[in-house]
Amino acid sequence: MHRGKGMKFVGDSRVSAERKPNIPKDYSEYPGKTEAFWPDFLLREWLVGAVFLIGFLCLTVAHPAPLEGIADPTETGYIPMPDWYFLFLYQLIKYQFASGPYNLLGVAIIPGLAFGGLLLAPFIDRGPERRPSKRPFATGFMLLAFAAVFYLTWEAVDMHDWAAAEQQGKITQAFEVDKEAEGYKIYANQSCINCHGENLEGSAAAPALVDMEHTPEEIKDIAHNGIGNMPAGQYDGSEEDLDKLAEYLAELKSE
Ligand code: HEC
Repeated sequence: MHRGKGMKFVGDSRVSAERKPNIPKDYSEYPGKTEAFWPDFLLREWLVGAVFLIGFLCLTVAHPAPLEGIADPTETGYIPMPDWYFLFLYQLIKYQFASGPYNLLGVAIIPGLAFGGLLLAPFIDRGPERRPSKRPFATGFMLLAFAAVFYLTWEAVDMHDWAAAEQQGKITQAFEVDKEAEGYKIYANQSCINCHGENLEGSAAAPALVDMEHTPEEIKDIAHNGIGNMPAGQYDGSEEDLDKLAEYLAELKSE
């Protein structure tokens, strides 16, 4: 392309007045300044691509995505958290003017206007200038959008209860019970398993029976007389077996 003095423009510095045939010259006409697409250029692209790919692969293996406990649909207190690039939208719908009865405003209208405005930018700002300082509308909107996204993301991170979320996400059932243990067999033959679960992990109806603070005596009492929401008379077997069961449950630790 030729630049500099003597060039004529069509009222717009990006469009030259001179018409040129739209066929690029063959690369052989620029000795030493260009290269063949195949294999030179492609080979280099592929090499760079492969280096990045392997780099990402190593990173993923070195830092696996952290796993949380199994999702529990009955848990209503779970604190959700989208990925960082959606945090600003997430934060927006926390505000009163954009949530509840005004949900539509927060999820569709405000973001719609913002992104729709992007589409309109070339129609609103039609000057030939290219320098940001000479394009107040485009530059202004961009800075505004940037500031808004930055502020909302910051607020979302600040408001999130990181400690509580980590506590919630903990993997609680990291162990498997030994189903051959004598105590477990007694447990499984009683009604207990229906509420407290196959792995003593608990259910929506009852808490887990792992890591309890109860003594065997207390557990025996609970089995006969119930506790809180647990009805009495759940145990139906010999006292000998109940001794073993209580002993077994009292000693059950998750690690
Ligand atoms: C009908 C469902 C049900 C059955 C069957 C049942 N439980 Fe429970 N169990 C519960 C509930 C609900 C609780 C929680 C009580 C509360 O704190 O309000 C509980 C609590 C307990 C606790 C106290 C846990 C803690 O962390 O404090 C023990 C120990 C226990 N059950 C043992 C047993 C044993 C042993 C059996 C079998 C003999 C059994 N349960 C059968 C529902 C049940």
